[in-house]
Amino acid sequence: MQFSRRTILQGTAAATVAGLTPGGLSAKTQALPLTRQIPSTGEVLPIVGLGSWITFNVGNDPKLLDASADVIAAFFESGGRLIDSSPMYGSSQATIGFALEKLGFPESAFSADKIWTSSKSEGPTQFTETRNLWRLKIMDLMQVHNLLSWRAHLEMLQEKKARKEIRYVGITTSHGRRHGDLEEIMMSQDIDFVQLTYNVLDREPENRLLPLARERGIAVIVNRPFQRGSLIARFSGKPLPKIASEIGARNWPQLLLKFVISHPAVTCAIPATTRIDHVKENLESAAGPLPDSTMRKTIIDHIAQL
Ligand SMILES: NC(=O)c1ccc[n+]([C@@H]2O[C@H](COP(=O)([O-])OP(=O)(O)OC[C@H]3O[C@@H](n4cnc5c(N)ncnc54)[C@H](OP(=O)(O)O)[C@@H]3O)[C@@H](O)[C@H]2O)c1
Repeated sequence: MQFSRRTILQGTAAATVAGLTPGGLSAKTQALPLTRQIPSTGEVLPIVGLGSWITFNVGNDPKLLDASADVIAAFFESGGRLIDSSPMYGSSQATIGFALEKLGFPESAFSADKIWTSSKSEGPTQFTETRNLWRLKIMDLMQVHNLLSWRAHLEMLQEKKARKEIRYVGITTSHGRRHGDLEEIMMSQDIDFVQLTYNVLDREPENRLLPLARERGIAVIVNRPFQRGSLIARFSGKPLPKIASEIGARNWPQLLLKFVISHPAVTCAIPATTRIDHVKENLESAAGPLPDSTMRKTIIDHIAQL
């Protein structure tokens, strides 16, 4: 499906999502998430998106499908756009497709998925399956998952982009794997997006990949902002740094997310969640002030002492 695009300006505390809610969703007064530009086009994206690994792998259970759709509805109502999935994530793609249809295909949705196969010939088939599962004609972003057979799949995805079956092309990694290879791809290939792991403890991308993304004009999606929830478990119950209140972080998840999205190279972080309160809280983190470079250092130093 071809969505018409809105340009959402930088959010302010005074702004509301009331004018941004897709048809069929209730309007609410809530601060807008901040946005960043996709360098290759200038299109803006809210700085927090939604992951789907495990969280939306709910099979055919009607109650769980409805519960997932409620989380996705809350995501859009809070001003979110980008949802990330993969053929690797069980039934998550089908769950997202179910939710999009149930919500009347919100105009603001930004679909991000992946090709995940070592077989060159399976790539186009997998793309068609993915598109069908999302119940969309056009995918916004298709990424090569974990650099798997990346040469063949990037070529195929670039052809699909030229034919306007997809709007953006990208490549992903996680857990700090193959950063050297990723750097070479970022240097040599014409890609719109890169996706990698970055969080307060996994900060290696700060050295080379994040600055390179800025130099090369590549948008950055951050996966595992909470290290699959382990960072939240590790720090909950521990004192927040004093600067947390200055940037409106009420708890550890908000502080951890604000740390990630305050890096200037980051376009969109994609925490996954099964919970409506958590999705709202995550989007709220993107709506208030973010730590500046001094505050970011304070957060790192504080965490090192815990
Ligand atoms: N190679 C790749 O391409 C790759 C690799 C890894 C991940 N990814 C993508 O990145 C996404 C995010 O990574 P991830 O799912 O591994 O981990 P994550 O987003 O770092 O952590 C997810 C966990 O955080 C919890 N959580 C989320 N928001 C919370 C909040 N406000 N308060 C408390 N707990 C909260 C969730 O539990 P609740 O359900 O209880 O909220 C969930 O267990 C994935 O879902 C996937 O889309 C891509």
